Amino acid sequence: MSTVRDMSLAEYGRMKILWVRDFMPALSVIRDRFEAEQPFRGMKITTSIHMEAKTAYLALCLAAGGAEVHATGCNPLSTQDDVAAGLASLGVNTYAEYGVDKEQYEKLLLEALACKPNLIIDDGGDLVETLYRHPELAAELIGGAEETTTGIHRLKARAKAGVLQFPMMNVNDAKCKHYYDNKYGTGQSVWDAIMHTTNLLVAGRTVVVAGYGYCGRGVAMRAKGMGANVIVTEIDPIKALEASMDGCRVMPMDKAAREGDIFVTTTGCRDVITRRHFEVMKNNAFLSNAGHFNVEVNGEELENMAVRVYKRRNDIMGYELPDGRTLNLLAEGRLVNLASGNGHPAEIMDTSFAIQALAMEYMAKNGRGLHRQVYEVPKEIDDEVSRIKLEGCGMEIDRLTPEQEAYMNGFEV
Ligand code: NAI
Repeated sequence: MSTVRDMSLAEYGRMKILWVRDFMPALSVIRDRFEAEQPFRGMKITTSIHMEAKTAYLALCLAAGGAEVHATGCNPLSTQDDVAAGLASLGVNTYAEYGVDKEQYEKLLLEALACKPNLIIDDGGDLVETLYRHPELAAELIGGAEETTTGIHRLKARAKAGVLQFPMMNVNDAKCKHYYDNKYGTGQSVWDAIMHTTNLLVAGRTVVVAGYGYCGRGVAMRAKGMGANVIVTEIDPIKALEASMDGCRVMPMDKAAREGDIFVTTTGCRDVITRRHFEVMKNNAFLSNAGHFNVEVNGEELENMAVRVYKRRNDIMGYELPDGRTLNLLAEGRLVNLASGNGHPAEIMDTSFAIQALAMEYMAKNGRGLHRQVYEVPKEIDDEVSRIKLEGCGMEIDRLTPEQEAYMNGFEV
């Protein structure tokens, strides 16, 4: 049984899933092995990840490995109704509808958990939060894996407080995830979303990137590549110096607010852009967020300040301020690349989801012996994914000769 908006959209949804499959060679190798070995036979897996084509393909790979998969989204604005319908039509229990309110979103999470899963995949921490509030649904749970930085922060806080109920794998911190996904995936897809949503020029504009972590570095790098002048705001002096040496100007948000044309927050923190910043921004500045939750740009304060709030284009709301300036908020301040774009390129999600698939297999085999903690993904999984990805891309690399190996491990030159 699935809960999706419109099953008549299924055909295009299936086309989108088949399209990404062709560009996800690593996950396809894993799917073929899963099909042969059936590592999830007799198991139920609930996934809560942005409901779009790459995620749907991951769900199908887990199903190919013998799992009964129950798939939901992790953000109502990133759900693609055609993909949800397509996935449901391919036999995966799917519970996701675009644009639902908080109450309905939580209902969909509960529907996806009603099977009492053995394994879960979470993205941002809402699924784990739901299980915390409804522990009876975790009765058969062995463990799970978390996809993103914000979800890892929440899991570690739970583990520290002693309230994590099951082992979770930290997929975000696997190298084959955050080196590529957070940096190059976010770097490309954020600009793809901003450009097609605004249909405006990036070159020559001043772009303010808040946070110079993995996501921020990617967003800043691509902005520079398109000819923008980039300002970075940070709280960490080491990252701030790195941004400066990468050629960005560094300053606090209080100063950057006056200069920016386009703002992108990538901090995982809250209230990064607030009322005092709105007060000094240029007319027609653009505000967008790429962090996991819509708390980085304080939309409530912006709304309270505005004398008029009106739709300017799809996914752009204009906030007219008493002095006549208008500020433009993209995608309600939710992560812009998913809420008004198609998410990361398939080739990027190939490695992220290959890690997810192997983390699920690891948890299925070993989870019963693990503690209620956050576990790093074993290095062998990272190595395996990078190896099959290289092969899938038709690339070869050098190998150390025995002499080189002895040299690298010795102390004599
Ligand atoms: P990170 O930990 O590598 O970087 C965050 C950076 O923000 C750090 O350098 C930190 O010092 C800085 N920071 C924190 N609070 C700040 C503040 N108030 N002002 C300025 N800088 C501040 O984290 P990462 O991996 O870059 O992730 C950032 C966020 O993006 C998380 O919420 C994560 O879940 C999300 N994410 C979003 C993706 C997308 O597709 N949009 C993809 C991957 C992650």
